[in-house]
Amino acid sequence: MKASENKATLSFSNGGQNVELPIYKGTLGPDVIDIRKLYAQTGMFTYDPGFMSTASCESAITYIDGDKGELLYRGYPIEQLATNCDFLETCHLLLYGELPDEAKKTNFTKLVTNHTMVNEQMQFFLRGFRRDAHPMAIMTGLVGALSAFYHDSTDINNPKHREIAAIRLIAKMPTLVAMAYKYTVGQPYMYPKNELSYAGNFLHMMFATPCEEYKVSPVLERALDRIFILHADHEQNASTSTVRLCGSSGTNPFAAIAAGVACLWGPAHGGANEAALNMLYDIQKAGGVEKIGEFIKQVKDKNSNVKLMGFGHRVYKNYDPRAKLMQETCKEVLGELGLENDPLFKLAMALEKIALEDEYFVSRKLYPNVDFYSGIVQRAIGIPVPLFTAIFALARTVGWIAQLNEMIGDPDYKIGRPRQLFEGSAKRDVKPIAQR
Ligand code: CMC
Repeated sequence: MKASENKATLSFSNGGQNVELPIYKGTLGPDVIDIRKLYAQTGMFTYDPGFMSTASCESAITYIDGDKGELLYRGYPIEQLATNCDFLETCHLLLYGELPDEAKKTNFTKLVTNHTMVNEQMQFFLRGFRRDAHPMAIMTGLVGALSAFYHDSTDINNPKHREIAAIRLIAKMPTLVAMAYKYTVGQPYMYPKNELSYAGNFLHMMFATPCEEYKVSPVLERALDRIFILHADHEQNASTSTVRLCGSSGTNPFAAIAAGVACLWGPAHGGANEAALNMLYDIQKAGGVEKIGEFIKQVKDKNSNVKLMGFGHRVYKNYDPRAKLMQETCKEVLGELGLENDPLFKLAMALEKIALEDEYFVSRKLYPNVDFYSGIVQRAIGIPVPLFTAIFALARTVGWIAQLNEMIGDPDYKIGRPRQLFEGSAKRDVKPIAQR
């Protein structure tokens, strides 16, 4: 950390002694005030529920400039990565800090591809679920269960174990997501085909059957690969912070990533793509474009609890750059499939236009986020709506594991242990039950 020449001084209106706090500078983004010694010096904690002003860690992986609408992985703009690289190159970048050259890419691809199968026992574990279980319920269980199958990579303090667990997770997530899907539709599981690309293999495991040849469409393969790139990491979001906090106890990487999957499931986070598509369906059912005005009215009514799903972001106060790329991909995929007049896409574009002109959204800087269009793309590819968040989890796994390994690799890391402002009852005595 680079210390700034500036220092912050905290003063107290009751005349208590001033406290001088160091300030550190990052490569980009706001400086941070180091409050680690504040409690020792003042006996006070800071209060910041929701981490509105708190940097929870140092990181060199991903940077977001929310005002500009900019997203960088290891310094590279997301637009350039999405246009010039594939997902496995992006994984290499996130994990090791650099884009691979040809030779490194070949080795890395081989390494990941060697681990695409899961222990055969996994399918019997899967059988314990109801056929109508939500894929994210299944994924939370399956990813956690990996720690029971791969004992030789569960020591988080061993760099070799961390590396192999990272590769296993990246390689096996598509297999597990496809298995969760096949299980719910009652089709046989398709084993991975290692001659295919990462995205192509996933499409094969999802949509092939043993009965006939399945040809991977290059347009759909590229679209899915782009979805994976766009979702690969997003600095200290809720699920990544969950993975870091969970991993800070020294638990194994599979357990920490399972915690990330569980967190991602929520509709305010990864579940928003499913919620956004369901919202579009509901508006469509109610009458389509003509009903947008009525729907926006409900969104603006604070008592309705209705949100425009796929809009708004804690960090982006401008257009989410991933949403722009996703809109592009959406047009490409719908064109390839002859669905240019897809009514949901038209509805989404109309909804976006109206929302972007509305004072409510303008004044709150609410713009479409990645989830606004990703559901339409996934639905067009043939991915069922309840599986959307599992696809997000598949793609985010590399980000989670890169962030976890960054934390554990730091010799100064400590177990995460926030404090609280206690507002409950002061100490009191238990009365015998008859007197309560
Ligand atoms: N629809 C209507 N109003 C909204 C929305 C929305 N989607 N998002 C925020 N607002 C309002 C909110 O009610 C508040 O208004 P007021 O100041 O009058 O109380 C104001 O905008 C600020 O919102 P906030 O809830 O304080 O912002 P936050 O940073 O706590 O929440 C968010 C961020 C993403 C949870 C929220 O925008 C949201 O719920 N959006 C819909 C869900 C969604 O699309 N999530 C996906 C996020 S991107 C993918 C990911 O990273 O997981």
